Amino acid sequence: MEISVSLLKESNIDEAIEKLNTTNASYFHLDVMDGNFVSNTSYSISQIKNMIKKCNKKIDAHFMVNDPIYYLDKLKEEKIENFTFHVELDDVESIINKVKECNFKVGLAIKPNTNINVLNRYLDKIDLILVMSVEPGYGGQKFLPSTISRLNDIKSLIGNRNIKLAVDGGINDDTIKLISNIDIAVVGSYITNNQDYQEQLNKLLN
Ligand code: DX5
Ligand code: ZN
Repeated sequence: MEISVSLLKESNIDEAIEKLNTTNASYFHLDVMDGNFVSNTSYSISQIKNMIKKCNKKIDAHFMVNDPIYYLDKLKEEKIENFTFHVELDDVESIINKVKECNFKVGLAIKPNTNINVLNRYLDKIDLILVMSVEPGYGGQKFLPSTISRLNDIKSLIGNRNIKLAVDGGINDDTIKLISNIDIAVVGSYITNNQDYQEQLNKLLN
């Protein structure tokens, strides 16, 4: 299992990224919120570009926004590994095509109450499914136990396709034990609540 670190609540983001750079985490999970799709906001385009420049990890970007194309247009030259947006939006298909044109891996995020069957029609076009284990919008929430059966069902949908399965929200050294069958765990507050990020990563991976 790989770890993708979310630095959402950090006041000194430059310092947090420098710290993340020294760990063995696989990805920087960059949470982008527009104040519309979710009520919260996070980073401006220039802040995003600055963070990508400073970070030596693969960028796992999660767009909790109504208009992913707006961000895609502004960020198409950046080194982004995964460009993940929400399956609850309209016209998912054309957004997928535009992300592919930028040569980013396509991720579809799904909120806790969305029927998983909506994923079906996109399965042959995507690289990653990001299963939300909290309502998107804020870090530090409690892991929703209903996620466990959703993950099993989504695994069956995926079948033998080459799609990574990621989980986002409320993951700590207890809840990670419940999701050992996934590819990427997105972890925020459990890591950033301690000065020593690597110590937390070690606890997660043991
Ligand atoms: C929630 C974000 C998550 C979150 C993870 O809207 O997508 O990435 O910040 O943080 P924790 O691990 O604190 O739930
Ligand atoms: Zn996220």
